[in-house]
Amino acid sequence: MIDGYHETFYQDGEKLLKQLPKGVFITVRDRRGETNTMTIAWGHIGVIWGRPTFIAYVRYSRHTYDLLLNADDYTINVPAYGTLKQALKVAGTESGRDIDKFKTANLTLREANKVNSPIIADCELHYECRMIYRQTQEPALIDERIKERYYPQHDTHIMFFGEIVDSYRLKGENHG
Ligand SMILES: Cc1cc2nc3c(=O)[nH]c(=O)nc-3n(C[C@H](O)[C@H](O)[C@H](O)COP(=O)(O)O)c2cc1C
Repeated sequence: MIDGYHETFYQDGEKLLKQLPKGVFITVRDRRGETNTMTIAWGHIGVIWGRPTFIAYVRYSRHTYDLLLNADDYTINVPAYGTLKQALKVAGTESGRDIDKFKTANLTLREANKVNSPIIADCELHYECRMIYRQTQEPALIDERIKERYYPQHDTHIMFFGEIVDSYRLKGENHG
């Protein structure tokens, strides 16, 4: 194992990539202590600057975006394949501006090992990410067909790069 690259980074990539299009939770606690989660289906896992990294794509309009701007980290919480459908729907259609999604979706928070943002204990696989970079999209450089389809309101995505400082599976809890 290369220093800083946890076994989960290699071995559970398939689990993450299989579940990602169905939705995973990005969870953030900002510096004022406000916590929120939302469903994401877009993201990348890889390496930059010699660090294992996750990149989340979050539109300006999301409440989660406001929190991420004022946070040092976030967690990525991956449900066991095909599970937590109702919770993913709540987190992906309701806004933390209006409701407490953890209560509504019956999700249990647990403190993370190395970051301020908590994890969702109901999920199987967890990535703790320390924010190291963020980047806006350049609309002029996006393929025209994609731009028409995804950005008619010009509500583009911001990429939040998180160094994966810890990753693990919660074993023996609901998932065997
Ligand atoms: C399956 C699914 C995947 C989604 N993926 C993303 C995504 O990758 N990026 C994004 O900005 N919004 C995504 N959304 C939409 C947000 O989850 C949704 O707008 C949410 O209500 C925002 O919550 P917030 O206002 O509390 O941040 C997705 C929604 C669903 C249902």
